[in-house]
Amino acid sequence: MSTPKPAGQRHRYALVGTGARAEMFVGAIAVDHAERAELVALADTNPARLAAHNRRLTGLGAAPAALYPAEKFTAMLDETGADTVVVTTVDSTHDEYILAALAAGRDVITEKPMTVDAERCRRILDADTDGRVRVAFNYRFKPAHEKVRTLLASGVIGEIGSVHFEWLLDVRHGADYFRRWHRDKASSGGLLVHKSGHHFDLVNWWLGARPERVYAQGRLFFYGENGSRHGYDRGYERVHGSPEAASDPFALHLADNPGLAELYLGAEEHDGYLRDRNVFAPGASIEDDMSVLVGYDTGASMTYHLTAYAPWEGYRVMFNGSAGRLELEVVENDHVDPRTAGHVKGAALHGAEAPAERGATRLTLHPFWRPPESVELPSSPAGGHGGADAAMTAVLFGGATDPLDRSATSRDGAAALLTGLAANASIACGEAVAVADLLALT
Ligand SMILES: NC(=O)c1ccc[n+]([C@@H]2O[C@H](COP(=O)([O-])OP(=O)(O)OC[C@H]3O[C@@H](n4cnc5c(N)ncnc54)[C@H](O)[C@@H]3O)[C@@H](O)[C@H]2O)c1
Repeated sequence: MSTPKPAGQRHRYALVGTGARAEMFVGAIAVDHAERAELVALADTNPARLAAHNRRLTGLGAAPAALYPAEKFTAMLDETGADTVVVTTVDSTHDEYILAALAAGRDVITEKPMTVDAERCRRILDADTDGRVRVAFNYRFKPAHEKVRTLLASGVIGEIGSVHFEWLLDVRHGADYFRRWHRDKASSGGLLVHKSGHHFDLVNWWLGARPERVYAQGRLFFYGENGSRHGYDRGYERVHGSPEAASDPFALHLADNPGLAELYLGAEEHDGYLRDRNVFAPGASIEDDMSVLVGYDTGASMTYHLTAYAPWEGYRVMFNGSAGRLELEVVENDHVDPRTAGHVKGAALHGAEAPAERGATRLTLHPFWRPPESVELPSSPAGGHGGADAAMTAVLFGGATDPLDRSATSRDGAAALLTGLAANASIACGEAVAVADLLALT
């Protein structure tokens, strides 16, 4: 990464991909870390979303950024003198901007997944010869996940033999992937790349391991055309303007949310992108129910399952070691409150009423021959993803120290991606897939 700026000079950032996720980075650069960082430019293919971000910046009391159409990306870097580019575009387009920024001698912070196929991944690794790319794996920065890493590294359960990991996306959050570009595998890589990449990265980081061999099974069981089989499909194409969607708990009503209406409904005229498709509309090419078996270079193995249509949201991960077992259970919400079913994850109810959903985090150490010990966890700070976003941006933009090595490189991004790609390949061919057959990670 680039050397720090001399005193008095701020680091100059440009961001490409001004959708929902960009809001977090824009606020972190232009407001939270404004002493050291400066947001000089924004680029996107959609001018309405670009303008929406500048209105938001002004509302936050920050200076507006220079706005560029995406095809002027390289000119933007030259004209604004950006030092680092933040990439928050649709997954299948990350590589284009990572490669252009590296070619222009800039550093890169990219959202996960780093890209969506092995060939593009290889091009990024070949171009990132001096470690200029960071992948924004924010889950590493969650206090419970940091604690797991510290405990495992301390040898508290000895050598890790295996991991058992289950992740549940509920019928609000899981459903959201079937309304948007994510439902198209060519755009997102499917949930094993787009979503499980976080989980695969955590395991790589927790174990200090690289994946070698992957077997998987998966299918689209619940969303898409399965909706008519299970009696959920109400037969409309998109929510906005469809009377059939009025009482559908799976419907996202963009017009009821000023932020979403501004970013998406008000931007449709420029690219025709629909953010509120019926989750049961035909054409989804991704899976919603996936089982994966991974063998690692340390000798450990992992059984993993992702369900995208669960009644509650959270995860359980268990580590079996030569000196005991460590179990993490996180309930993000124990059910989906029907009043927020048709919102995006984290949306608040209008008015003062709190949703009835409950959550809890439990980390338990089971040593041999002794009763289990409950491990005390720091309470999750406020902010996106249980405080993980703020902790991550403090390192990325604020110069905070990173003793746990949470900042992920392009090689880390590749290792997480390749687990998902090998799983996708295994689903397609019905056989176990060697990761090195997709790309040799040196
Ligand atoms: N780590 C996390 O917790 C987290 C959470 C949400 C999203 N993300 C990631 O952030 C990225 C953006 O997701 P989002 O939810 O904001 O999606 P989004 O659809 O809201 O935004 C994507 C933006 O990219 C733009 N875009 C599309 N094609 C482009 C191109 N060729 N060139 C330039 N811009 C283009 C779109 O116009 C849109 O503004 C994704 O990679 C996603 O995986 C990460």
